[in-house]
Amino acid sequence: MAELEKIPTGIEGLDNMLYGGLPKNNQMLIAGGPGAGKTLLTFEILYRNAKKGIPSVFIPLEEDTPMVLRNVKEAFPNFTDLDELVKSNIIEIDGGGPALKVKEVTDSELYSFGNIVSEIENLVRMNNAQLVIVDSVSMLKLVLGDSSLYRKSMMGLISTLRRLNVTSIFTSELTSTERQSLTFSPEFFMFDGVMNMYQIGEKDRRTLAVEVVKMRGSNHSWALAPYEITPGGFKIYTIEQ
Ligand SMILES: Nc1ncnc2c1ncn2[C@@H]1O[C@H](COP(=O)(O)OP(=O)(O)OP(=O)(O)O)[C@@H](O)[C@H]1O
Ligand SMILES: [Mg+2]
Repeated sequence: MAELEKIPTGIEGLDNMLYGGLPKNNQMLIAGGPGAGKTLLTFEILYRNAKKGIPSVFIPLEEDTPMVLRNVKEAFPNFTDLDELVKSNIIEIDGGGPALKVKEVTDSELYSFGNIVSEIENLVRMNNAQLVIVDSVSMLKLVLGDSSLYRKSMMGLISTLRRLNVTSIFTSELTSTERQSLTFSPEFFMFDGVMNMYQIGEKDRRTLAVEVVKMRGSNHSWALAPYEITPGGFKIYTIEQ
């Protein structure tokens, strides 16, 4: 069977791990502990693709737009054309309308997931986005609870994105920052692909490492790859070439 068409992430080590990139039109999950680099990694993927003319939308559910941009610029001072790409709307950072202001909602009973889905759909259509980041799914879980309603709603959102023909990445919290003590939450089964970012405790310091847990329809690296966040972007040290 032919391999799926891939969208390179533009991050060399990651593309090697993914045997070329993200399978086109797959809906992915990147899970990691606090500060593992989920926001920065997903943003760098948009940045690398924006440089090739691929439009995207970054939907922050936890931070507001200026904060996202400020943090990215702080971490990646070498991305000197970032402002320009954001200004030209090839990377659109947009927290959406009232339904997506998840962290401001106090009464989850009044909340309609249908509205969240339509706001995401609008953002994708308005920007002709081919790549979509939702950062993070934990905020959606907060309004829906860890229930069958959450699973059903998320499945609905995933099929909407599939129908829109986009490749998307949702970020999520890991139940543990360490690999050994991990339990798999429902998202791990719903998405087409899953990558985990770990902070591995070793004596007096922590090492960052990423692994591909699953990728429907494509082979991938099975190795745990250490990574660094450098001013010029992520460096991922994988054994794959
Ligand atoms: N200027 C920098 N140079 C090197 N590393 C940085 C720099 N700025 C931030 N970092 C690293 O990036 C991490 C934050 O990355 P990011 O915001 O992507 O994490 P996250 O996984 O999204 O966190 P959260 O769970 O809080 O959303 C910091 O904990 C720090 O280790
Ligand atoms: Mg984050």
